[in-house]
Amino acid sequence: DKGGHKHFMAKEIAEQPMVISDLLQAYLSEDGHSIDLPEGGIDFNKIDRLTMVACGTAFYACLTAKYWFEQLAGIPVEVDIASEFRYREPPVAGRTTAVFVSQSGETADTLAALRYCEGRADSILSVVNVPESSIARESDLALPIYAGAEIGVASTKAFTCQLTVLLLLALKAAETKGRLSAEELTDKLSLLRGVPGAINQVLEADQTFRAATRLLAESDNALFLGRGLMFPLAYEGALKLKEISYIHAEAYASGELKHGPIALIDKKMPVVVMAPKDQLFDKTVSNMQEVMARGGKVLLITDREGAAEAGDGVCQSLIMPEIDPILTPILYALPAQLLAYHTAVAKGTDVDQPRNLAKSVTVE
Ligand code: M6R
Repeated sequence: DKGGHKHFMAKEIAEQPMVISDLLQAYLSEDGHSIDLPEGGIDFNKIDRLTMVACGTAFYACLTAKYWFEQLAGIPVEVDIASEFRYREPPVAGRTTAVFVSQSGETADTLAALRYCEGRADSILSVVNVPESSIARESDLALPIYAGAEIGVASTKAFTCQLTVLLLLALKAAETKGRLSAEELTDKLSLLRGVPGAINQVLEADQTFRAATRLLAESDNALFLGRGLMFPLAYEGALKLKEISYIHAEAYASGELKHGPIALIDKKMPVVVMAPKDQLFDKTVSNMQEVMARGGKVLLITDREGAAEAGDGVCQSLIMPEIDPILTPILYALPAQLLAYHTAVAKGTDVDQPRNLAKSVTVE
């Protein structure tokens, strides 16, 4: 049942405020001041390092979490693609917790990576949507993301729910390690409870996103750029676009632009820049100007302040609600999804069942 939507993907995008609210209700204490992990929880004082392993969109959720764990909790994190990790014979030394993120919980490479860590890692944690899946069952602790069934091959609500659970974990770690006071944690949690409302605001501006996709739908290529927490998001935006609209899209950390990809820039290359007005904004803007100076057409996703500061020359700005900097990945997942969705609809591709892809990749 598509619930009145044209595609499952549209329905699942629209469900995000609701599923994230449910998720927060499941993980937060009644007074909303603390994070309750399931029985057998995790003691972050006993963990020196996290090794996070996943595929596709779940891998980008892990990449985002690396920024959170390192910045908020000071815990070093390694992130790996499951198909690489499993054959490299990586040493899993010391007090390492291995974390596996998977919507289906059945991805063959992720499961094999998990089995490799059995008997090597101190403990095995998974972040899954399907609680009875193999990955959940074979973990010491499985954290559900409560996204509900996801039918569209392109992952949407599972991604934002994965991000939310991983952020809760990073906040819990920061509190345990004494890097966040009880008061600061309460503050962050109350901001987090504002995310579903902010997502609703983005969904209400859906028309703007649809209008913005003309540039992409007419192109054969696109580049996505982001810095810091927006770097993994750029990857997610590019993956969504190529999966369902078949447009060749690549993502780069903005700072990498002049190390090669800038050679691709001409007037036929739309460049999607994801940049909320944060500490790194000015740096991203200067990369963006390098693109515009070479005729590249920039689609800037930012907030009001960012749009005002970006100045002239941007082909199109999409204005996002203002939000605490650590929460931007969850909110900016929406434009990544909406741009891909509307581009695919404009091109007439099969949004829910894109060619050559399977929802659950159970063979390597
Ligand atoms: O079920 P999983 O989360 O383990 O799946 C991982 C990837 O196959 C998946 O995220 C894939 O990249 C999606 N089609 C992305 O939209």
